[in-house]
Amino acid sequence: MKPIQVGLLGIGTVGSGTFAVLQRNQEEITRRAGRGIAITMVADLDVARAKSIVGEGVQVVADARAVIANPEIDIVIELIGGYGIAKALVLEAIAAGKHVVTANKALLALHGTEIFAAASAQGVMVMFEAAVAGGIPIIKALREGLTANRIQWIAGIINGTTNFILSEMRDKGLDFAVVLQEAQRLGYAEADPTFDIEGVDAAHKATLMASIGFGIPVQFDKAYVEGITQLTATDITYAEQLGYRIKLLGIAKRREMKDSAGSPAAEGIELRVHPTLVPIKRLIANVEGAMNAVMVHGDAVGTTLYYGKGAGSEPTASAVIADLVDITRMHSATAAQRVPALAFQPGSMNNMPVLPMGEVVTAYYLRLRVADEAGVLAQVTGILASSGISIDAVLQREADEVGGEGATSTDLIILTHDCVESNMNAAMAQMQAVKSVLAPIVRIRKEELA
Ligand code: HSE
Repeated sequence: MKPIQVGLLGIGTVGSGTFAVLQRNQEEITRRAGRGIAITMVADLDVARAKSIVGEGVQVVADARAVIANPEIDIVIELIGGYGIAKALVLEAIAAGKHVVTANKALLALHGTEIFAAASAQGVMVMFEAAVAGGIPIIKALREGLTANRIQWIAGIINGTTNFILSEMRDKGLDFAVVLQEAQRLGYAEADPTFDIEGVDAAHKATLMASIGFGIPVQFDKAYVEGITQLTATDITYAEQLGYRIKLLGIAKRREMKDSAGSPAAEGIELRVHPTLVPIKRLIANVEGAMNAVMVHGDAVGTTLYYGKGAGSEPTASAVIADLVDITRMHSATAAQRVPALAFQPGSMNNMPVLPMGEVVTAYYLRLRVADEAGVLAQVTGILASSGISIDAVLQREADEVGGEGATSTDLIILTHDCVESNMNAAMAQMQAVKSVLAPIVRIRKEELA
């Protein structure tokens, strides 16, 4: 049988990796897919550069629409990125009856509902393994390997840039801004790192995992997003002393809501990205540098962990090609026989709401810079007690460790048990108003991940 023909839109780092791996492992990939897979047409604005990558025998054009219009092409790979032209091209490829493979998490997290509906109506597949955690096959694990399970929660280090920065801050005791500059110099962080350091990239990925895990529509706008820009080396050190490591986690968690009588009522989903204290003894706490890892807890399987490179040319190509192989295998099946893009059949998605952040239940690390005088601890813990918030541990630094000899202020670090975020917000407002609390209270959420 003739190889299935693939058109590639955008041949940058991931595109050239995809081309190289597909060529290098051609024989083995064909044996797995049951048919050859060939990139026969590439669109890139830099035609000369693209030609130098793919060589003779592959048609290179500047106009992506020429690829979509080619009737020989069955699969279009979109590696342009962003939501502008990429969205138009993906929808046009679907309308032209092409299957689509994309690494574009931003596009799917914001416009996935529209794109998947268009694909379903057209009877084509949209695959996106490369969009979440690069080379780690987490989409396939959630969609297929764990399909027997009722997923309870997913928690992942899904942004390598921020994990690299946090690892360096801890190892070297440096503050965020210093490490960011170093990461940019080494090429670990983009010139404009906003999406990474503000948690947006991780939230795109968490949004997609939540949809696949729980069968809810993609709804990035409901995600709570907090990055790592406010983290200090001080809090990283205190967390270590308490047996925790701070990681930027993307979390999606199923929550059973109770009605006013305390009986189980509807379910909701927590969807959030924020710096999180994780017990050092968890494997995920020891994922260092730019590596990614995702934990998934299913009712049947228990807790599982997936680890690997979340970015880079060939690791991401590995995911792109896995999708190409899947599509090649399923190409002739009817839409109903295929593995659904979001794991659940399009007519069987559910309406579990993504909960407002005020309804999230989690534990907290609080750091209060307070005047070193009688009664402060009692006042602060009194506020927590009257708010129904239970304390797990308290650490107080000696005043001279914090501010030098004769210092009049000290740090009070409190770990709480789980409580509702809106209660914590109210308690924090009260504590902040105490005269002896000298600076804005630092709050970092904490998850046991057990
Ligand atoms: N910028 C991402 C990261 C890689 O730092 O992990 C691609 O998603």
